[in-house]
Amino acid sequence: MIIRRPNDILPSEITSHSVYRRRREFLKQAGALGLIAASGSELALAQSPTATKLAAKPGRYSTTDKPTAYKYVTGYNNYYEFGTDKEDPAEYAGKMKTRPWTVVVDGEVKKPRSFGIEELLKLAPIEERIYRMRCVEAWSMVIPWSGFSLSELIRRVEPTGNAKYVSFSTAADRSSMHGLGLPVLEWPYAEGLRMDEAMHPLTILSLGLYGEILPNQNGAPVRLVVPWKYGFKSAKSLVRISFTEQQPKTAWNTAAAQEYGFYSNVNPEVDHPRWSQATERRIGEDGFLSQRRKTLMFNGYAEQVAGLYKGMDLKRQF
Ligand code: MTE
Repeated sequence: MIIRRPNDILPSEITSHSVYRRRREFLKQAGALGLIAASGSELALAQSPTATKLAAKPGRYSTTDKPTAYKYVTGYNNYYEFGTDKEDPAEYAGKMKTRPWTVVVDGEVKKPRSFGIEELLKLAPIEERIYRMRCVEAWSMVIPWSGFSLSELIRRVEPTGNAKYVSFSTAADRSSMHGLGLPVLEWPYAEGLRMDEAMHPLTILSLGLYGEILPNQNGAPVRLVVPWKYGFKSAKSLVRISFTEQQPKTAWNTAAAQEYGFYSNVNPEVDHPRWSQATERRIGEDGFLSQRRKTLMFNGYAEQVAGLYKGMDLKRQF
């Protein structure tokens, strides 16, 4: 995104998730007993209610593509509030406090209100959605999210007839996020969807991944996931959801409108001005001989979402 190609991850041995989980469990308990100092993602996990296990059975719309190894899902991230290197979020996001946490929902709704995170965890049945995710930097992952359709929350606040768009703002806490001092984006990070995109059942609020509550680096405690759009639309650590009549400003569009449009649908036919979007690297799969994958229109979700864009020129409204 900023202005640079993703680093190559060296193919290395993949730690299976059960081994990883046992090791984290051990680290967590050792941390709680004061045997070791927890740091980074270990700390993130230690802050969480240990009993929280979320849905772990593939639900609606799940892909059959093999999920990306947990260590890449949680160790190779973009979360610029914690720095611009892919390893920074795992290293620094543990400092962010995710309890207590409140999401304000306001704007063009009949019932504006706040949701505490504990309430969100119980708002609707949590499903596992194994989604392909495609970053604008031309790499992809397959992530087993735990969450529910954003529409579950939307219908509880009853949008008015004026609600045409939804805007999302995310946490901006100077005490834990050193990235806010970097002149990369305007903070807080902001994203937006058209109302029909927000109501689409594929669009979820995610509270976890791999059957556990979200690690901080992945956007704890609650984030948006929109699998047919470039990853930057999936805003992390949400604090406000506002319904508006006008198309809202978004962080990347404000920073570089010629590179990042409002829609940002995955579209292999519209190149980023500085690189091709025709193919992608699947993180964790790359070896010396591995092939890049062809990028699919709407990231492979065309059957579900192409209808939302009928009549639009997607080369112009990218
Ligand atoms: N949300 C916030 N608040 N800050 C960010 O920097 N980066 C975006 C998106 N959401 C970002 C964010 C980008 S560029 C991508 S590709 C995805 O998060 C990465 O999400 P992941 O860590 O779950 O892979």
